Amino acid sequence: MRIFLDTANISQIRQGVKLGVISGVTTNPSLVSKEGLKDYKAIVKEICSLVPGPVSAEVVVNETEAMLKQAREIATWAANVVVKIPSTTQGLEVISVLAKENIKVNMTLCFTLNQAILGALAGAAYVSPFVGRLDDISHDGMALVKDIVDVFKNYKLKTEVLAASIRHPQHCVAAAKAGAHIATVPYQVLMQMMQHPLTDAGIARFLADWQRVQRQQR
Ligand code: G3P
Repeated sequence: MRIFLDTANISQIRQGVKLGVISGVTTNPSLVSKEGLKDYKAIVKEICSLVPGPVSAEVVVNETEAMLKQAREIATWAANVVVKIPSTTQGLEVISVLAKENIKVNMTLCFTLNQAILGALAGAAYVSPFVGRLDDISHDGMALVKDIVDVFKNYKLKTEVLAASIRHPQHCVAAAKAGAHIATVPYQVLMQMMQHPLTDAGIARFLADWQRVQRQQR
């Protein structure tokens, strides 16, 4: 499984990339506005320059022609940009046109297996089931991830499953077990993934023992 960072925060992206485990970034209009960033194009271009892999940037219009126009424009911003298109009927039409133009799409706001199948058939490079938002309304978000993975495998569909709306480290574990190709995680979750109190306690004990031996040798 690959890990993407789900953020538009430049310092978080720089920090995450330094760890050598981040192979892409996903953004959405809420994440971009959270950073108070005015120049959408400039921020997406900067993120694309920092990350070796795909960077998802979302369209902010809903009508077919307007989405197509905006998606084509976003696709020119960087070689590694991926356009995020919502899971709607208009979105499907847009995805199928963009796929023919070799523009990579991440079909976002995916909440059902049917949406995922149609997105894959239209030619999306990625579909993004929103795990946390399904959990929020008492559905099993990770069961959807697993269903999509299984069906895509059954029919040899090339679209990758990008587990999104990840809220905590246990979601990452479950996404890996479900066979998601990618989990996109907030920076805080990335940090939590590496933490364990026994690791901290083990380091403290090793250092204390080491210092005791040093003192005895003096
Ligand atoms: O990747 C989609 C993600 O940003 C949505 O997360 O926590 O707003 O549901 P959340």
